[in-house]
Amino acid sequence: MPVQSRALDRSFAREVVGLRLWEPVDNQTVDELRDLWAHHPLLVFRRQALSEDELADFSALFGPLERVVRTDWASPMRPEVGVISNLKDGQGKPIGGLGDGEIQWHSDQSYMQNPATGAMLYALELPPEGGTTSWADLSAAYAGLPDRLKRAVEGRRAIFDYTKRLAGYQGVDRVISGEAKRKTPPVLHPLVHIHPITERKALYLDPTTTVGIDGMDEASGSALLEEIYGSATRPEFVYRHQWQVGDALLWDNGFTMHRREPFDPSARRLMKRTTIFLSRERHIVPEGSLVAA
Ligand code: SIN
Repeated sequence: MPVQSRALDRSFAREVVGLRLWEPVDNQTVDELRDLWAHHPLLVFRRQALSEDELADFSALFGPLERVVRTDWASPMRPEVGVISNLKDGQGKPIGGLGDGEIQWHSDQSYMQNPATGAMLYALELPPEGGTTSWADLSAAYAGLPDRLKRAVEGRRAIFDYTKRLAGYQGVDRVISGEAKRKTPPVLHPLVHIHPITERKALYLDPTTTVGIDGMDEASGSALLEEIYGSATRPEFVYRHQWQVGDALLWDNGFTMHRREPFDPSARRLMKRTTIFLSRERHIVPEGSLVAA
Protein backbone atom coordinates (compact mmCIF):
# COMPACT_ATOMS: atom_id res chain seq x y z
CA MET A 1 0.00 0.00 0.00
CA PRO A 2 1.37 3.48 -0.86
CA VAL A 3 2.70 5.59 2.02
CA GLN A 4 -0.11 7.64 3.55
CA SER A 5 0.59 11.13 4.90
CA ARG A 6 -1.29 14.27 5.88
CA ALA A 7 -0.35 17.88 6.56
CA LEU A 8 -0.10 18.83 10.23
CA ASP A 9 -1.68 22.13 11.31
CA ARG A 10 -1.85 23.08 7.63
CA SER A 11 1.92 23.53 7.80
CA PHE A 12 4.88 22.12 5.87
CA ALA A 13 5.15 19.26 8.42
CA ARG A 14 3.58 15.94 7.40
CA GLU A 15 2.49 13.05 9.55
CA VAL A 16 3.20 9.67 7.99
CA VAL A 17 0.59 7.16 9.09
CA GLY A 18 0.45 3.38 9.29
CA LEU A 19 4.16 2.55 9.49
CA ARG A 20 5.82 0.55 12.26
CA LEU A 21 9.40 1.70 12.06
CA TRP A 22 10.67 -1.25 14.08
CA GLU A 23 9.69 -3.61 11.24
CA PRO A 24 11.66 -4.05 8.00
CA VAL A 25 10.54 -1.48 5.41
CA ASP A 26 10.12 -2.73 1.84
CA ASN A 27 11.96 -1.04 -1.06
CA GLN A 28 8.88 0.62 -2.52
CA THR A 29 8.00 2.19 0.82
CA VAL A 30 11.60 3.39 1.25
CA ASP A 31 11.51 5.02 -2.21
CA GLU A 32 8.20 6.71 -1.42
CA LEU A 33 9.48 7.97 1.94
CA ARG A 34 12.65 9.33 0.30
CA ASP A 35 10.53 11.14 -2.26
CA LEU A 36 8.14 12.49 0.39
CA TRP A 37 11.03 13.74 2.53
CA ALA A 38 12.69 15.46 -0.44
CA HIS A 39 9.51 17.52 -0.82
CA HIS A 40 8.56 17.97 2.86
CA PRO A 41 11.41 18.80 5.25
CA LEU A 42 9.71 17.49 8.41
CA LEU A 43 8.07 14.06 8.67
CA VAL A 44 6.32 12.96 11.86
CA PHE A 45 5.84 9.28 12.78
CA ARG A 46 3.69 8.73 15.88
CA ARG A 47 3.32 5.86 18.38
CA GLN A 48 6.65 4.23 17.60
CA ALA A 49 8.45 1.84 19.98
CA LEU A 50 12.07 1.70 18.89
CA SER A 51 15.28 0.24 20.23
CA GLU A 52 18.45 2.19 19.48
CA ASP A 53 19.32 -0.29 16.74
CA GLU A 54 15.86 0.09 15.16
CA LEU A 55 16.11 3.89 15.26
CA ALA A 56 19.59 3.77 13.70
CA ASP A 57 18.61 1.17 11.09
CA PHE A 58 15.53 3.14 9.99
CA SER A 59 17.55 6.40 9.84
CA ALA A 60 20.24 4.68 7.75
CA LEU A 61 17.68 4.04 4.98
CA PHE A 62 18.19 7.72 4.06
CA GLY A 63 22.00 7.86 4.13
CA PRO A 64 25.09 6.93 6.12
CA LEU A 65 24.87 7.82 9.81
CA GLU A 66 27.24 10.41 11.25
CA ARG A 67 29.06 9.93 14.54
CA VAL A 68 28.80 13.53 15.71
CA VAL A 69 31.73 15.40 17.25
CA ARG A 70 29.90 15.31 20.60
CA THR A 71 31.08 11.82 21.46
CA ASP A 72 30.16 12.71 25.07
CA TRP A 73 26.48 12.59 23.99
CA ALA A 74 26.76 9.25 22.16
CA SER A 75 24.91 6.20 23.40
CA PRO A 76 27.34 3.64 24.84
CA MET A 77 25.33 0.90 23.10
CA ARG A 78 25.08 2.41 19.60
CA PRO A 79 27.43 5.37 19.11
CA GLU A 80 25.57 6.70 16.03
CA VAL A 81 22.66 7.40 18.40
CA GLY A 82 22.95 10.61 20.44
CA VAL A 83 21.20 11.04 23.77
CA ILE A 84 19.41 14.39 24.22
CA SER A 85 18.35 14.56 27.83
CA ASN A 86 18.50 16.40 31.14
CA LEU A 87 18.83 13.10 33.05
CA LYS A 88 21.90 12.19 35.07
CA ASP A 89 23.41 8.83 35.96
CA GLY A 90 24.00 7.49 39.50
CA GLN A 91 27.17 9.58 39.79
CA GLY A 92 25.36 12.80 38.82
CA LYS A 93 26.93 12.83 35.33
CA PRO A 94 24.61 13.87 32.43
CA ILE A 95 23.64 10.83 30.33
CA GLY A 96 23.43 13.04 27.20
CA GLY A 97 23.42 16.65 26.04
CA LEU A 98 21.33 19.80 25.78
CA GLY A 99 19.86 19.72 29.31
CA ASP A 100 16.62 21.55 30.03
CA GLY A 101 17.22 25.09 28.75
CA GLU A 102 15.93 26.93 25.73
CA ILE A 103 17.74 26.06 22.50
CA GLN A 104 17.68 28.98 20.09
CA TRP A 105 16.91 28.71 16.37
CA HIS A 106 19.64 26.66 14.72
CA SER A 107 20.46 24.15 12.01
CA ASP A 108 22.31 21.06 13.30
CA GLN A 109 25.85 20.63 11.93
CA SER A 110 26.02 24.07 10.26
CA TYR A 111 29.50 24.39 11.81
CA MET A 112 30.78 21.41 9.80
CA GLN A 113 32.39 21.82 6.40
CA ASN A 114 30.39 18.84 5.11
CA PRO A 115 27.33 18.80 7.33
CA ALA A 116 25.25 15.68 7.82
CA THR A 117 21.94 17.48 7.35
CA GLY A 118 19.41 14.75 8.10
CA ALA A 119 18.22 14.22 11.67
CA MET A 120 15.79 11.97 13.47
CA LEU A 121 14.65 12.62 17.05
CA TYR A 122 12.66 10.06 19.02
CA ALA A 123 10.82 10.85 22.27
CA LEU A 124 10.97 8.32 25.14
CA GLU A 125 10.19 10.49 28.18
CA LEU A 126 8.67 13.96 28.22
CA PRO A 127 8.06 16.71 30.76
CA PRO A 128 4.40 17.50 31.52
CA GLU A 129 4.86 20.92 29.93
CA GLY A 130 7.48 22.83 27.95
CA GLY A 131 10.22 21.25 25.85
CA THR A 132 8.22 21.67 22.65
CA THR A 133 10.25 21.98 19.47
CA SER A 134 9.50 24.25 16.51
CA TRP A 135 10.79 24.16 12.94
CA ALA A 136 10.97 26.98 10.39
CA ASP A 137 10.69 26.23 6.66
CA LEU A 138 13.51 28.20 5.04
CA SER A 139 12.27 27.60 1.52
CA ALA A 140 8.96 29.33 2.23
CA ALA A 141 10.93 31.93 4.20
CA TYR A 142 13.12 32.69 1.17
CA ALA A 143 10.04 33.05 -1.03
CA GLY A 144 8.60 35.46 1.56
CA LEU A 145 11.63 37.78 1.58
CA PRO A 146 11.25 41.18 -0.03
CA ASP A 147 13.26 41.45 -3.29
CA ARG A 148 15.68 43.84 -1.55
CA LEU A 149 16.68 41.08 0.93
CA LYS A 150 16.77 38.38 -1.77
CA ARG A 151 19.28 40.52 -3.66
CA ALA A 152 21.27 41.23 -0.48
CA VAL A 153 21.84 37.52 0.32
CA GLU A 154 22.32 36.26 -3.25
CA GLY A 155 25.85 34.89 -3.72
CA ARG A 156 26.77 35.66 -0.11
CA ARG A 157 28.45 33.20 2.25
CA ALA A 158 28.21 33.31 6.03
CA ILE A 159 30.86 32.28 8.55
CA PHE A 160 29.70 29.50 10.89
CA ASP A 161 31.68 28.92 14.08
CA TYR A 162 30.94 26.22 16.67
CA THR A 163 32.55 28.24 19.47
CA LYS A 164 29.56 30.61 19.25
CA ARG A 165 27.14 27.68 19.67
CA LEU A 166 29.10 26.38 22.66
CA ALA A 167 28.91 29.75 24.41
CA GLY A 168 25.11 29.46 24.32
CA TYR A 169 25.02 26.05 26.01
CA GLN A 170 24.54 25.32 29.73
CA GLY A 171 27.13 23.76 32.08
CA VAL A 172 29.29 20.89 30.85
CA ASP A 173 27.79 21.06 27.34
CA ARG A 174 30.11 24.06 26.80
CA VAL A 175 33.20 21.88 27.10
CA ILE A 176 34.44 19.84 24.14
CA SER A 177 37.43 17.58 23.64
CA GLY A 178 40.59 18.68 21.85
CA GLU A 179 39.64 16.36 18.97
CA ALA A 180 36.18 17.95 18.67
CA LYS A 181 37.85 21.40 18.57
CA ARG A 182 40.17 20.28 15.77
CA LYS A 183 37.19 18.97 13.78
CA THR A 184 35.21 22.22 14.05
CA PRO A 185 37.19 25.14 12.62
CA PRO A 186 35.10 28.10 11.33
CA VAL A 187 33.58 27.36 7.90
CA LEU A 188 31.82 29.23 5.11
CA HIS A 189 28.49 28.19 3.61
CA PRO A 190 26.32 29.94 1.03
CA LEU A 191 23.23 31.62 2.51
CA VAL A 192 21.05 30.58 -0.42
CA HIS A 193 20.74 27.15 -2.06
CA ILE A 194 18.54 25.63 -4.76
CA HIS A 195 16.75 22.41 -3.89
CA PRO A 196 17.77 19.70 -6.43
CA ILE A 197 14.25 18.25 -6.73
CA THR A 198 11.83 21.14 -6.25
CA GLU A 199 14.25 23.73 -7.71
CA ARG A 200 12.99 26.17 -5.08
CA LYS A 201 15.50 28.50 -3.46
CA ALA A 202 16.00 28.27 0.29
CA LEU A 203 17.94 30.07 3.00
CA TYR A 204 20.61 28.27 5.01
CA LEU A 205 20.73 29.93 8.44
CA ASP A 206 21.95 29.37 11.97
CA PRO A 207 21.99 32.31 14.39
CA THR A 208 23.68 30.14 17.06
CA THR A 209 26.85 29.64 15.00
CA THR A 210 26.94 32.46 12.45
CA VAL A 211 29.47 35.16 13.29
CA GLY A 212 29.33 37.24 10.12
CA ILE A 213 29.03 37.41 6.35
CA ASP A 214 32.13 36.98 4.23
CA GLY A 215 33.18 40.25 2.61
CA MET A 216 30.88 42.45 4.72
CA ASP A 217 31.92 44.52 7.73
CA GLU A 218 30.69 43.22 11.08
CA ALA A 219 27.95 45.82 11.61
CA SER A 220 26.44 45.53 8.11
CA GLY A 221 26.68 41.71 8.17
CA SER A 222 24.94 41.37 11.53
CA ALA A 223 22.27 43.95 10.61
CA LEU A 224 21.47 41.97 7.45
CA LEU A 225 21.44 38.65 9.31
CA GLU A 226 19.14 39.98 12.04
CA GLU A 227 16.69 41.19 9.40
CA ILE A 228 16.77 37.82 7.64
CA TYR A 229 16.33 35.85 10.91
CA GLY A 230 13.34 38.00 11.88
CA SER A 231 11.69 37.44 8.52
CA ALA A 232 12.51 33.69 8.35
CA THR A 233 10.95 32.89 11.74
CA ARG A 234 7.62 34.63 11.16
CA PRO A 235 4.76 32.43 12.47
CA GLU A 236 3.52 31.54 8.99
CA PHE A 237 6.82 29.69 8.30
CA VAL A 238 6.89 27.82 11.62
CA TYR A 239 5.47 24.47 12.77
CA ARG A 240 5.43 23.89 16.57
CA HIS A 241 5.45 20.24 17.63
CA GLN A 242 3.75 19.12 20.85
CA TRP A 243 5.67 15.95 21.58
CA GLN A 244 4.00 12.70 22.60
CA VAL A 245 5.95 9.68 23.84
CA GLY A 246 6.71 7.50 20.80
CA ASP A 247 7.00 10.38 18.33
CA ALA A 248 9.88 10.05 15.87
CA LEU A 249 10.55 13.12 13.74
CA LEU A 250 12.72 13.16 10.64
CA TRP A 251 13.89 16.56 9.39
CA ASP A 252 16.13 18.14 6.81
CA ASN A 253 18.49 20.76 8.24
CA GLY A 254 19.39 21.87 4.70
CA PHE A 255 16.35 24.12 4.56
CA THR A 256 14.96 24.28 8.09
CA MET A 257 15.97 25.65 11.46
CA HIS A 258 14.56 24.46 14.78
CA ARG A 259 14.37 25.67 18.35
CA ARG A 260 13.33 24.10 21.66
CA GLU A 261 11.48 25.72 24.52
CA PRO A 262 12.88 25.21 28.04
CA PHE A 263 11.21 22.93 30.59
CA ASP A 264 11.20 22.36 34.34
CA PRO A 265 14.66 21.06 35.31
CA SER A 266 13.09 18.69 37.83
CA ALA A 267 11.00 17.00 35.09
CA ARG A 268 12.40 14.14 33.01
CA ARG A 269 13.00 14.38 29.25
CA LEU A 270 14.73 11.64 27.27
CA MET A 271 15.15 11.77 23.50
CA LYS A 272 17.38 9.82 21.14
CA ARG A 273 18.76 11.28 17.94
CA THR A 274 20.49 10.18 14.77
CA THR A 275 22.34 12.35 12.26
CA ILE A 276 22.36 11.38 8.59
CA PHE A 277 24.56 12.29 5.59
CA LEU A 278 22.02 13.05 2.86
CA SER A 279 22.47 12.81 -0.89
CA ARG A 280 22.89 16.02 -2.93
CA GLU A 281 20.69 14.40 -5.59
CA ARG A 282 17.63 14.75 -3.34
CA HIS A 283 18.48 17.29 -0.66
CA ILE A 284 20.14 20.63 -0.12
CA VAL A 285 23.53 19.77 1.35
CA PRO A 286 25.74 22.84 1.78
CA GLU A 287 29.24 22.51 0.34
CA GLY A 288 31.39 24.37 2.82
CA SER A 289 34.92 25.69 2.74
CA LEU A 290 37.33 26.54 5.50
CA VAL A 291 37.73 30.18 6.46
CA ALA A 292 41.17 31.24 5.19
CA ALA A 293 43.60 31.49 8.09
C1 SIN B 1 17.97 19.74 18.98
O1 SIN B 1 18.04 20.95 18.89
O2 SIN B 1 18.52 19.03 18.14
C2 SIN B 1 17.17 19.10 20.10
C3 SIN B 1 15.76 19.51 20.05
C4 SIN B 1 14.97 19.05 21.22
O3 SIN B 1 15.55 18.70 22.26
O4 SIN B 1 13.73 19.04 21.12
